Order: sequence, then structure tokens, then C-alpha cells
Amino acid sequence: MSTVIKGGTIVTADLTYKADVKVEGGKIVEIGPDLSGDTVLDAAGCYVMPGGIDPHVHLEMPFMGTYSADDFESGTRAGLAGGTTMVVDFCLPDPGQSLIDALKRWDNKSTRANCDYSFHMSVTWWGEQVFDEMKTIVEEKGINTFKHFMAYKGALMVNDDEMFASFQRCAALGALPLVHAENGDVVAAMQQKLMDEGNNGPEGHAYSRPPSVEGEATNRAIIIADMAGAPLYVVHTSCEQSHEAIRRARQNGMRVYGEPLIQHLTLDESEYFNKDWDHSARRVMSPPFRNRQHQDSLWAGLASGSLQVVATDHCAFTTDQKRTGIGDFRKIPNGTGGLEDRMPLLWTHGVNTGRLTMNEFVAVTSTNIAKILNVYPKKGAILVGADADIVVWDPKRSKTISAKSQQSSIDYNVFEGKEVTGLPRYTLTRGVVAVEEATVKTREGHGQFVRREPFAAVNKALSTWKEITAPRKVERSGIPASGV
Ligand code: URP
Ligand code: ZN
Ligand code: ZN
Ligand code: ZN
Repeated sequence: MSTVIKGGTIVTADLTYKADVKVEGGKIVEIGPDLSGDTVLDAAGCYVMPGGIDPHVHLEMPFMGTYSADDFESGTRAGLAGGTTMVVDFCLPDPGQSLIDALKRWDNKSTRANCDYSFHMSVTWWGEQVFDEMKTIVEEKGINTFKHFMAYKGALMVNDDEMFASFQRCAALGALPLVHAENGDVVAAMQQKLMDEGNNGPEGHAYSRPPSVEGEATNRAIIIADMAGAPLYVVHTSCEQSHEAIRRARQNGMRVYGEPLIQHLTLDESEYFNKDWDHSARRVMSPPFRNRQHQDSLWAGLASGSLQVVATDHCAFTTDQKRTGIGDFRKIPNGTGGLEDRMPLLWTHGVNTGRLTMNEFVAVTSTNIAKILNVYPKKGAILVGADADIVVWDPKRSKTISAKSQQSSIDYNVFEGKEVTGLPRYTLTRGVVAVEEATVKTREGHGQFVRREPFAAVNKALSTWKEITAPRKVERSGIPASGV
């Protein structure tokens, strides 16, 4: 059984041209004019693009005393409804727990996925066991990325010496380290001070995590990666200070990548000063939303290439879950949703405003991600032989975002009331039509795990440090007597 996507304009990260796309056995088998097949999908007036890849989601994640509310079923359904055909979730071992054991839990949860998925492994503690298991994770389990939390002191945070050891291990294994870059010690001290002064509302969350705290940690992680000879991927880059550190490292020849979230691109810090406690608490995430100046910096980075990827960090909590933080903002579960809305919002605020070209849109929502995570061109491409993960994008379809019509299982949407123009007409996951306009017909369990092999060539450290990585023994004629 073949399907032909007919009459559309193919848009990839570097080309725009008119052609039909034929799909069979879950793969793209032919691209060209006037193709025929058993089923025809009308793409007239639409753009035919690689399905979105969201490289940063937390589905059914144990976090801050609860579990994020969207699981692999509702989360991937939300993604497909918005044109996203692959997600990468974070496997999170408890400190002290075996990475392999933690992965078993994630394998079980993910059997319900409606679209393909992969995992990042988190390094939440350090020891010989982690060092050993990292090799198994890369070579046997098909995971080539390791996440490090520089924040969440007393829970998931790792220290600089642990990061340095882990980054070196990544470099040796051909893996890419990821960092959540915020100075966890400073955040904890600021939080305590705010609480002592009686600032216990959600705005305290924003005050305790200013942009400089993120910029410092980003820069520190970059230096540590450089010394370890590893590339680096900075998740949820939210501010100019962090972007600046990434730009500088790239200019110096390092492979450092930055990932703004759709939330930071379209929502600002005023959300934390709403008179309605629920409104502000629902938007508590780390890093917090920033002001207009930081948003402009992120948009510029996406256009110029100093930032490469747009993600969601989808980590949705219900209003009831958020309310555990009444009286102490430190207890509000950190995280917001966005899986269903990332692509339509980025199109509306990026392509429709002229801030991004259509090709840049494809690059930052799909192709760049596939390349950085080493799954290109299986994913992220409209090419013969690629998986038929395709979105047929109708640039004229509009809607108003609302919790009432969303796929996510939470009771609100942080983008409530925002208009979007540009939505999927069809979303295909390995050739199966999962979404047709407003009709969602996903198949639970259709999603498969996507192995990601180690990188052949990892970063080499900057020349300044490389000169002393192999210390030279100094022959001395004599050593002065000690003591005086
Ligand atoms: O607030 C956030 N971002 N929650 C999810 C966990 C993380 O830090 O990525
Ligand atoms: Zn994070
Ligand atoms: Zn509100
Ligand atoms: Zn996250």
C-alpha cells in the first residue's frame, strides 16, 4: 500500500520546490512530478516538510515530589497534533541508581508512544558504576547524549568535578554532553533570602534565577567541555548572557549548541506578576521567562545560526500539582507544556513575521536537531530512504490556542488565547496518517525507539588548552631545600 502526497511544495532546510512524495512501508520511496499511489493526500496550497523533532520533553517524569502529567500517550498525541513526529525524553536515574535500571522504567513507559522517540540519559550522580554504565548506554542501548543538571541543588545537581569527569567520558565514548545551565548554589541562596524576606509567591521563582545565573553556568560548562575535549549542548537557552557565551565558544571553534524553547521566545516575565496566583504558578519553569531584550536575542540567534534548535521542555503539571507550592514558590513543580503548540507558534511568530525563513523553520524544528543528535537523514529529511515522518503544513489554517481543544491532559494552556496561523493539514508518522486537520487518529504503541549511534568525530579542545593537555615533564638541575 502506497500513499502519495500530491500537489504540494516541498520545504527542507535548504530547498523549496514543487514535487509529489510517495511513501511505502513507512519510508519515502520516490520524490518527483505526477506520482501515483493507492491513496492520495491532497497537499495543494501546502508545504511538505520533515515532521518536527522535539529534542527535550519530560513525559510521566518523577520530579519535585510528583509526576509530570502528560505520559508517552498523551504527550506524543499532542506532538502529532501540532506536526511533531519524534520526541526525545530524559531518562532520569535517582541519585545512586543504576543507569541501566532507570532505563528499564523508561522502556516500559514509552511502549504507549504514538510516534517515534529516543532518550537522553541523565547523569545525576557520579561514581565508578556510572563511568562503566555509560559505555553500555552508548554502545548497547543506542543513546549518545548525557544530561547534567547544574541546578536543583540537593536533588539532581552535579558538581564541576563530576561534570568534568563525565564530559571526558562522553568525549571518549563519542557522546554529546547536555547541560541545564543555572548556578544551583546561587539559586538556592537567593531562594532562601527571598523566602526569609516574605517573598513566597511565584514571582520569587523568577527573582531567584536571573539571567546572569544562567550565563555564568553556561560559560562554566563551556570551559569544562573545552578542557574535557567534548562538544556541548545547552538545553533551554533563555537569555542573552547564555547566548553570548555560546556565540563566543562557536567563534573560537567549539561545537557548542544552544536550544531556545518556544515558551522563552513567545512569553515574557510579566507572566509572574499576574494577580492570579494560579496564572503565575502555571508558568513557573526553569529558567524562567525573560524580558523582550532576551527574546530578541534568541530570535536573532536562530536566524544567524548561533542558536540551532527550538524545543519545548514539555513538562506539564496540573493546577492542583502547581498548588503544592502555595506559600513556598520553591515547591511549585517546575515545568510547562508546549508540545502541541511549538510548530504553529514558531511559524506564526517566526515565518509569518519574517524573522525566520521557511527553510530556517525546518532547520530549527527538525533537520538541525536530527543532525546534532545523529539521526539524520533517517529523521529530519524529505529524501528517498528517509522515514516518512512528514507534516503537510497549511499556512492558511488558523486557530486560537485553548485548553478546551488541546490533546495534553492538563487543565490549562500557558498559550491560552494566542492566535496561530499555520497548522498541519496532515501529520504522518512512518507513513501512517495520525492527524488530518482537526481529526486526531493516533495509534497507541505505534511509536518505536530510535537508536542514536555514537559520533565518529567529537570536538577537539580549543587550541589554548590543547597545547597543555599532554604535560611535558621538566628536567630540573636541582630542587631547593624545603621549609624556608
Ligand atoms: O522547569 C523545568 N524546565 N522543568 C523540567 C526539568 C528541567 O529542568 O528541564
Ligand atoms: Zn532543565
Ligand atoms: Zn490567567
Ligand atoms: Zn527539561
